[in-house]
Amino acid sequence: MNQPWSQRFTQPLHPLVERFNASIGFDLALLPWDVRGSQAHARMLARQGIITPEEGETLVQGLAQILQEYEQGRFPAQGEDVHLAVEQRLTELVGEVGKKLHTARSRNDQVATDLRLYLRDAIDDIAQRLRQLQRVLCQVAADHVETLMPGYTHLQRAQPVSLAHHLLAYFEMFQRDRQRLQEVRRRVNCSPLGAGALAGTTFPIDRHYTAALLGFEAVCANSLDAVSDRDFVVEFLAAASLILVHLSRMAEELILWSSQEFGFIEWQDSCATGSSMMPQKKNPDVPELVRGKAGRVFGHLQALLVMLKGLPLAYNKDLQEDKEALFDTVKTVQDCLAVMTLVWQEGVVINQDRLAAAVATDWSNATDVADYLAAKGVPFREAYQITGQIVRFALEQGRLLQDLRLEEWQQFHPHFAEDIYEVIRPEQVVARRRSLGGTGFDQVRAALAQAQRECSDDN
Ligand code: ARG
Repeated sequence: MNQPWSQRFTQPLHPLVERFNASIGFDLALLPWDVRGSQAHARMLARQGIITPEEGETLVQGLAQILQEYEQGRFPAQGEDVHLAVEQRLTELVGEVGKKLHTARSRNDQVATDLRLYLRDAIDDIAQRLRQLQRVLCQVAADHVETLMPGYTHLQRAQPVSLAHHLLAYFEMFQRDRQRLQEVRRRVNCSPLGAGALAGTTFPIDRHYTAALLGFEAVCANSLDAVSDRDFVVEFLAAASLILVHLSRMAEELILWSSQEFGFIEWQDSCATGSSMMPQKKNPDVPELVRGKAGRVFGHLQALLVMLKGLPLAYNKDLQEDKEALFDTVKTVQDCLAVMTLVWQEGVVINQDRLAAAVATDWSNATDVADYLAAKGVPFREAYQITGQIVRFALEQGRLLQDLRLEEWQQFHPHFAEDIYEVIRPEQVVARRRSLGGTGFDQVRAALAQAQRECSDDN
């Protein structure tokens, strides 16, 4: 019977209930933030004359010692959760005064504070990792502005594009992911400390002071909301889900591109795995795992939404379920960003010959034939239909558009002239798409320069 509430109860906790109820097995990870939150609380108690300055100093020092023990792997993780474990250890270390730490505080405002401090740091770390991936994408893009590849719609060859343009599409997704994280961070960065169990406290606390000590930009306005709110976790899980959507789409392309059917890239040994049975194989396990892990992150988002939807105010123990979902999501996002960065740094070799051959031997320059006629005054819809006839004619004979003779072109329309051959050359097909945001080389170079600025040190 060593629960803090043992005096109120006459029977000990059943061991199964004790184990079922405990969160120490996973919330110990919050210890560094729990200590920081408690140090701020102790300082505030002393400043407000709720405890003496000496008592405040003793608590702050004892907490610092606990953090050191934790970092050295010596912290005795015992009891129901990290908050009680820290308090118990503190009392062992500094004596009776340790028992004053919890004055004017509840684990309800404490755990919400810990979680927000933890998540704020996690967001900053993930934003850095996103930026690192963006930088690597820019480096690869810089080498491939003029590398052509088939562009697809419906996974059918549509129009050739610059490989850099394709990579910069992902840059844009990750840029929005970073912006989203910053927006979530603003709402995470709000202090629930001082909300007490649910209603505030009778002690003359200073919530603005603890908020300032902890670097919070604001205090949560309503005590009931402060201890019940996990919107900020849901928002983060939603932002994380979109990061995984983007990583998973990229992963899917890498998997496709490395198949023999595409052959656009090849895996370096450092980032691929072999088969235990088929000696010829090199498997893209890394992007497959990224694609697979997206599902578990979406699952965590769903779990939290469902966990919250029926909860009456204010704190309910259901809320303890937020932690494993959040921790697992943070780790999954961190790992997936790290491996995808590595993949682009050293994991794949781009098969330029294969890409060049692909665009040189297809009919994806057909739009440019229609545009050619339209530019000479033929209404686009009519130009489109004429081009359809030309493509059919070429396909029936197993010939490429560039292999048709000028007389053959002219049988379809008299406006065709010698310059048609230049217009449908793949390089020209790409280069001439000069519209804003298009794949034309000049546009791509400008987009790349802008992207490099956006992931530079001061952004
Ligand atoms: N381990 C708890 C959690 O994670 C801490 C808060 C406990 N509060 C309470 N009233 N039992 O939510």
